[in-house]
Amino acid sequence: MPKYDDPTARIIAPSVLAADWSRLNEEISRAITAGSDWMHLDVMDGHFVDNISFGPAFVQTIHETNDVFLDVHLMISRPDHFLDRFIGAGSDNITVHVEAEHDVADTLKRIRAAGCKAGLALNPATPFADVEPYLDQIDLLLVMTVVPGFGGQSFMEETMPKVAAAKAAREKHGYHYHIEVDGGIGAETAKTATANGANVLVAGTSAFKAPDMAAAVSALRSA
Ligand code: DX5
Ligand code: ZN
Repeated sequence: MPKYDDPTARIIAPSVLAADWSRLNEEISRAITAGSDWMHLDVMDGHFVDNISFGPAFVQTIHETNDVFLDVHLMISRPDHFLDRFIGAGSDNITVHVEAEHDVADTLKRIRAAGCKAGLALNPATPFADVEPYLDQIDLLLVMTVVPGFGGQSFMEETMPKVAAAKAAREKHGYHYHIEVDGGIGAETAKTATANGANVLVAGTSAFKAPDMAAAVSALRSA
């Protein structure tokens, strides 16, 4: 697994949302065997997004049965209220949304204080300016390339200027965060995203629904 603290290392993070949950453990083993670096866990509360997925107990189960970096994406309105439970469940990276109802800086500080990596996410409609005040407090910036809530949606090219802006800001200020993209990422769209500066690629459908997952993962790694 590439060292987390190299924000230019290519990292492939399949989204468990797209896995066959009736065979969850086998699916995660399959993803690791296929060469994946992280597992991306999409937590949805039915309020911040119009879907409900899973909570801390699901994360804990995965943590207890697999040795893999857990990249937890909290698409929930109150990440501050649930934070301790996701930390306790074994999350390695916890990404919260800038649009959610919380004190962003305080939540990010608590994530790091617990020894987890801190991520901040912005939706397609959210301007890059909204995350700029926090860029010096994060280990990862997640630029959503779909409207969050469901897997299998189409990549939104219009989000790419924000990936480029994130890369420019990191270089200008000497920041050290990963740039992650999430939603509609496959071999083709990964080329666009990485050309703009993304290094962490979340792939749900393109990874778990691929006829050959290892080929899909290596295509993302070389995109
Ligand atoms: C959407 C999630 C994404 C999604 C990715 O709300 O944040 O991680 O599961 O799925 P694909 O890769 O199928 O778009
Ligand atoms: Zn996600």
